[in-house]
Amino acid sequence: MNLNAPYLHENRPQRGATLLIATHNTGKAREIINLLSPHGFVIRTLAEEGLPAPEETGRTFEANAELKAQHGRSATGYWTLADDSGLEVLTLNGAPGVDTAHYGGWEKLLEELRNTPEEQRQARFVCALALQSPEEKTYFFRGLCKGSITLQNHGDKGFGYDPVFRPEGHALTFAEMSGEEKQKYSHRGAALRALAQWLELAE
Ligand code: IMP
Repeated sequence: MNLNAPYLHENRPQRGATLLIATHNTGKAREIINLLSPHGFVIRTLAEEGLPAPEETGRTFEANAELKAQHGRSATGYWTLADDSGLEVLTLNGAPGVDTAHYGGWEKLLEELRNTPEEQRQARFVCALALQSPEEKTYFFRGLCKGSITLQNHGDKGFGYDPVFRPEGHALTFAEMSGEEKQKYSHRGAALRALAQWLELAE
């Protein structure tokens, strides 16, 4: 028995339920689907439903994740899972943060940090997941991954800022790791494991 499981009256999507993944980012969708699809959900995506992505007007990761989940759920009526994530760089006072998607990519970040020495390049990835039920109740899960911004880009796997992010205690950037390896340490992996535990998918 899982003592961290929710109380019995809490509503959770059951095996066989349809789950809409509310993202157009194929990198994120792949990571989410890899974890959830073996567990008997029917996975749908925004593209398959012909839905555009909503504008991200929130000022927190959770607010944006909920806004995306709400958008997908209200259009389809399905349980909907959305992710909002970003990179917080210590020397930039947490920027680009919720604005990571519009910041200008790892090339701009390396340029901005060109005079920042290795020991001052700490950063963390944050991932907020929002799961909204057909009855419009939202459940949140958060994952963090501490690390640093490398001096140069390394690797060509993954997406976004993966070539310049090295998780703490590791020699490789996310872009040099397999998807499976990245998932073990990543912010999205941590948030998805919290979700899996809540869904009682975890052993
Ligand atoms: P949003 O969640 O759609 O606002 O986008 C967040 C942005 O953060 C993405 O477009 C990526 O640039 C970046 N990002 C989020 N998660 C990751 C990751 O796992 N690797 C690399 N970049 C990421």
